[in-house]
Order: sequence, then structure tokens, then C-alpha cells
Amino acid sequence: MSVAAKGPASGVERLPLVDLKAQYRAIRPDIEGAIAATLESQYFILGPQVEAFEREFASYIGVRHAVAVNSGTTALWLALWARGIGPGDEVVTPPSTFFATVEAVLLCGAKPVFADVDPATLLLDVKKAESAVTPKTKALLPVHLYGQAADMDGFRKIAQRRGLFLLEDAAQAAGTLYKGRKAGSLGDAAAFSFYPGKNLGACGDAGAVLTNDDALAEKIRRLRNHGSEKKNYHDFLGTNARLEAFQGGILSAKLRRLDDWNAARRRHAESYRRALAGMPEPSCVEEMTEGRSNCHLFVLRHPRRDALLAHLRGQGIEADIHYPVPCHLQPACGIARRPAGSFPVAEKAASEILSLPLFPELSQAQIDRVVSAVRSFQG
Ligand SMILES: Cc1ncc(COP(=O)(O)O)c(C=O)c1O
Repeated sequence: MSVAAKGPASGVERLPLVDLKAQYRAIRPDIEGAIAATLESQYFILGPQVEAFEREFASYIGVRHAVAVNSGTTALWLALWARGIGPGDEVVTPPSTFFATVEAVLLCGAKPVFADVDPATLLLDVKKAESAVTPKTKALLPVHLYGQAADMDGFRKIAQRRGLFLLEDAAQAAGTLYKGRKAGSLGDAAAFSFYPGKNLGACGDAGAVLTNDDALAEKIRRLRNHGSEKKNYHDFLGTNARLEAFQGGILSAKLRRLDDWNAARRRHAESYRRALAGMPEPSCVEEMTEGRSNCHLFVLRHPRRDALLAHLRGQGIEADIHYPVPCHLQPACGIARRPAGSFPVAEKAASEILSLPLFPELSQAQIDRVVSAVRSFQG
């Protein structure tokens, strides 16, 4: 799927999808303080700053353990690995997600089995997920896409009935609520990403596994550190997935602002929604009534998406697509690849979706600029 790579006319001010510089300007002393504390301590990997963040984030989500690792991808991978998921096993997951969800399953040697998404929310459809369960299925891996919680009550019931491990891909869902509870506390375990552009973003790669399961948390702590509890003694095979100390300090500083930032994102998303309501095109991805999204992304659908995207980019508005190719069509899927037409809802959505700039510091003038650019495309 190609998108015309037309740049903005010269002199047009650029409006990024996410303005990390604006965030940094607002909290610079705290970030620099966290970095200085790491340098002062000369403790660069895991250590007190990471442990403090683990405690704070676990308490924020409302679970007993947060195990910090070096990316969201690793968090998914280690959670599945720790649960013993491997060759011969299947994991049911949606095709509409960032490829890392699927990659984590493949890295364990297991097979991702796709089920289509709901046409209104683009979240994994509970009934279709249940139909995809076979005797080989070991886990369900719903994704809280765009910051909106998947229907976890539905998945919990299937997991209990079928004895499956329920892992939330909460990479995009820091601060999201589902029936009053935080995403990340709703399954047997959850994986978060703190990629810089996420609502809670590190200054580099970072992630965490959240769980109430003491044994699972302990296993992941050791997997992230070469299968070792005591230096140079290795009880089982692991890897190096440790988080840098800098990131722990930075994430603690940002966690204190997360609720305010998410509230600002929700206000901006509401402004977009109101301003675009009533237009025949585009439509917005719908919000579920049971939850409160953290508004990680604001996603429109338009039948002439590529032309709309080119139009916005021509005006300096850096809209983007999350994600242009559904996972079952990705060559890297190997054994899990499925032919075009297998998941019509996900495939149609992939050709129509477009994310508008959304970040806490977005101004009303910037929102107005985006809205009028969208309206001018309508003619
Ligand atoms: C839904 C989803 N899953 C997994 C990941 C992987 O996280 P990371 O980029 O931190 O490895 C991401 C992040 O991009 C994501 O959006």
C-alpha cells in the first residue's frame, strides 16, 4: 500500500504527529535531574531507579509486580516465554496491531492464530477469537489498540473456560480504564511499551510486564537477566533484557504527569470528534462505552485515505497510518501468514485508517488547523 510522499509546500509550518520537544521543554528539569541522579550513582543497569519505577508503576496499574525490561516487544516475548509457550502452541491475536505483538509469539516458536476485529472499534472480536481457539491454543493475546481497552470480560470468560493464559498487549494503554479498572490489571499478565511516542514514553526503548502472579514475575525477572539470580550462576536459559537505570528515573518523573497528559489528550480527541461530527466522511473509530481510552491515537477512516493523507502532509500536517498492512499479510509472519481476504474487517480498515496529530501540548489553534485541512479535503 503506497502513500504519495508529497512534502509540505516550502514555508509551511510542520505539525508533527507527536511533539516530543514540547513535552521535554515542559519537564526539562525533572528529566535532567533523573539523568544526573544516574550519573551520580554510576549505577547504569536496573538498580534503585528502575526498582522505584517498578514499584510506582505496579501501584499505578493496581497489580503486585512490574518487571521492567528493555522494550515492549521483549515484555510480550518474556511473558509468553515465562509461561512456557513454545513450539506446537497457538496464541490467538488480532491482525490489526503493530507487528511486535505477533513477533513475540513467533520468537517463542509458537504460532499466532488471527481472529478478525470489530468493525466499529477495530479491537479483537470476542466471538471470532473464541472460534479461533483449537486444542493447541495456549494463550489469548488481545491488544488495547489506540489506547482503547479490548473487551476483557469476554476474553477472561474464554480464558477461564478453556484454561488459557490471558496476556494483554497494553503497549498503547498506559492509564486506560476498563469498567473502572486500569488496563494492565485485567488479564494474567500485561505487556507495556514505553517507546518514546507512547503516552508514557522513555528517552529510548523500554517496557514492562505487569502481573499479580508472584511466580511468573520472578521467572521474568530472571529471564531478563540471563536466567540468573546470583551473578554467574545460570539456572535456565534467559537473555539480556534489562532496563537501563536512566530510563527508570525518567519514567518515574513522567508517570507523575501521566493522568494530566491523558486528560489533555482526551480533551483534544473530543474537540476533533465534535468538529468532525456530521461530516459524511471521514468517520472516527468508535469508543467503547465500558472504558475510558487514554487516547493514544486519534484515528479517522476515509475511503480515499491515501489522497487525504497526501493532502494533509502537503499542508505540513504529519498524519500517519497505524497500521497500513494487517499482520497476517506480513511476509515475516511465516507459518501464520494468511491470504488476502482472510480477515476482511482488518483489511478494509488498513486501507482507510489515518491518525491525526495528538499529544497533550496540542493547542486549540493546531486542532483548528488540522480540522480545517480535513474539511478542505472534503471540498
Ligand atoms: C500494540 C503494540 N504492541 C507492541 C509494541 C512493541 O513495543 P516496543 O516498540 O516498545 O518494542 C508496540 C509499540 O510500538 C505496540 O504499539
